[in-house]
Amino acid sequence: MRKPSKLLFILSCLLLIIFGAGCGAENEAANDPKLLLGFSQIGAESAWRIGNTRDIEEQAGNYDVSLMLEDANQKQENQIAAIRRFIAYKVDVIAFSPIVEDGWDNVLLEAKNAGIPVILVDRDISTEKEGLTTCVIGADFYHEGVMAGEYLIRKADSLGLSQVNIVEITGTENSTPMRQRQAGFMDTIKDDKRMRVLESIDGDFLKSRGAECMRSLLESYGDKIDVVYSHNDEMTLGALPEIEKAGYVPGSDMIIISIDAGQKAIDVLKEGRINCVVECTPKLGKELMETALKLKAGESVDPVIHPDEQFFSDEQDTGSIPPRGY
Ligand code: AHR
Repeated sequence: MRKPSKLLFILSCLLLIIFGAGCGAENEAANDPKLLLGFSQIGAESAWRIGNTRDIEEQAGNYDVSLMLEDANQKQENQIAAIRRFIAYKVDVIAFSPIVEDGWDNVLLEAKNAGIPVILVDRDISTEKEGLTTCVIGADFYHEGVMAGEYLIRKADSLGLSQVNIVEITGTENSTPMRQRQAGFMDTIKDDKRMRVLESIDGDFLKSRGAECMRSLLESYGDKIDVVYSHNDEMTLGALPEIEKAGYVPGSDMIIISIDAGQKAIDVLKEGRINCVVECTPKLGKELMETALKLKAGESVDPVIHPDEQFFSDEQDTGSIPPRGY
């Protein structure tokens, strides 16, 4: 009788230890609930933007993050209202892609006062105030403009051009990609005496506006145009049919330079109707989730996170470009 009771005692102790450890793990999980991330997206103006939203949703799933996603339908006031809702909801981290650079100070001060860290995704803001945001995760737009300009200089050399007349269709006025893609391109070509910019026109990153802008540029300059530098694929894809309707062959009569490198533009590059596409990757979701988790854990993060980006042109074997996924 004595032996079994001793065994029972040891077994009970073991069960208590195992059960106790289990309880500890459950308590830990209860103290570490899912990260709640509020994200305000600009809208769905381009294949790039749609790919960016999809990537963020997928990565939230992969990282087990609860995502409150709001689409601002291209309006800054909708983004500001969304950020206020995130604050009221007491999310852990706020992220947003600012449609333009100015006008965020008040709402970001409210987020700061509520103790909620803010991550900028894709685009930057302009502010005099310190500490409103923690970091920006997005492309080096200036470098994209530099790559476009360097390509143009090489192309002009290879064609032996003595004068190069450029029209530029820009993205949304006062947005980071618009300002930086223009600055990088202009800084790169400015010392080349052959280069002349006939006009820069606001295409708002939209396909319909790309077509309108191209019609107007063709009316004003016709066959004087040697180069169309367009700040995104959407506007380029809008401009191409207008060039063709006017009787020109894009890619031969005019050099076409685009940015984004979505599948449609790469297909047209392979056909020879676009000459160069600089990549701007929309795949920022992984960095966003990892950064948000670090902020929730009270860790520090890098102030600027640029993804690696590629460059595609008629200088390479375009047939070997793998599917783009956006
Ligand atoms: O901010 C990134 C830009 O916004 C992309 O180039 C464009 O396609 C999108 O609308």
